[in-house]
Amino acid sequence: MLDPLLFGEIDPPQRLLMGPGPVNAHPRVLRAMSADLLGQFDPEMTAYMNQVMALYRPVFGTQNRWTMLIDGTARAGIEAALVSLVLPGETVLVVNFGRFGLLLQEILTRIGARFETVDAPWGEVVPMDAIRTAALRIRPRVIATVHGDTSTTMAQPLDGIGSIAREVGAFVYVDATATLGGMEIAADRWGADVITGGLQKCLGGPSGTAPITISDAAAEHIFTRRHDEKGIRAAGAVDGPAARIASNYFDLAMIMDYWSEKRLNHHTEATTMLYGARECARIALAEGLPARFARHKAAGAAMSAGLRAMGLTLFGEDAHRMTNVTGVYIPAGVDGESVRAMMREAFEIEIGTAFGPLVGKVWRLGAMGYNAMKHKVLLTLAALEATLQAHGHAVPLGEAVPAALAAWDATV
Ligand SMILES: Cc1ncc(COP(=O)(O)O)c(C=O)c1O
Repeated sequence: MLDPLLFGEIDPPQRLLMGPGPVNAHPRVLRAMSADLLGQFDPEMTAYMNQVMALYRPVFGTQNRWTMLIDGTARAGIEAALVSLVLPGETVLVVNFGRFGLLLQEILTRIGARFETVDAPWGEVVPMDAIRTAALRIRPRVIATVHGDTSTTMAQPLDGIGSIAREVGAFVYVDATATLGGMEIAADRWGADVITGGLQKCLGGPSGTAPITISDAAAEHIFTRRHDEKGIRAAGAVDGPAARIASNYFDLAMIMDYWSEKRLNHHTEATTMLYGARECARIALAEGLPARFARHKAAGAAMSAGLRAMGLTLFGEDAHRMTNVTGVYIPAGVDGESVRAMMREAFEIEIGTAFGPLVGKVWRLGAMGYNAMKHKVLLTLAALEATLQAHGHAVPLGEAVPAALAAWDATV
């Protein structure tokens, strides 16, 4: 028999998570998540659901009625959006500039959709006129893009994408997992129909639920695919004329009916995650979104300045850097994984490795959500300086922290 005490109580080390996410959750979010559970249709619970809808509208920069949560990590939101919007055989234009553009393609392949891409090399973004040219040629059902792709640390400009989509009769889908709550997300101004996010980056919560917003036009389209499952459909429910959505769990038509006054009993809302998401948004809105974006910008500027003062070279275009994650080349002759291990073991600080073509070449340092703070950036830089020194890589000593401090103060 397995000794029930064998593994001990959960008691993780107090790591400072300065990678591309997840990051440390705000203590208020963790406290909210320890609150007692409620029944799914308890009036207190449905009131919390309605509050979450109201709280996430400004976070997404939208008036969209359909603004809610998809249970699951951020990719649950992505998958729900794409499987509900796109029918097998329909064509999607994917704006592809990193690993998460590849994820969009992977999900579309599973849906049985066709896609074409308009690409930028890793470290760059796709010019808006290239998106327009491709959209005019392809006439897709959806233009799908990532906002901030953590794999390359680039943020795709999205102003104007909605008017391109309207010109060709497409919807716009945006994966804003890595930027929601840290850089401006302007669903209505961009003309984006569906945007999804996650908590574990700039919103300073744990992963496990995906905020989503859906325009009325996209909702109307999705409702044409409404096919309520047998066990829960109301007497007299009428199916939509279009094909059933190929996922039950990610069927946005049923999920919208769950979040509406219909309260279709589709799934059991992840109550604890909802408490956490609610607190994340409350914290963000109390800080004020412009102040929050400025804080992330200052953190990114400080991190960049400190890394440069160490003589390191940043990855990617300066003009399109995400404010919350910074890519930096691993200096020649330095073992990147050994540096990460020492950062973790000696300083309790996690920095990120990289994906695909950047593996072994780049580290990614994040400062977002609860960790986009001056002292956390300065501690990380000081620790990295000492770690590089210990690895025999000569860095100008004592330069990084003052450079970062000056950059922070110049930005706020
Ligand atoms: C831009 C982007 N999209 C999607 C994801 C996937 O999120 P999750 O791991 O929560 O499913 C991430 C996570 O790193 C991300 O950075």
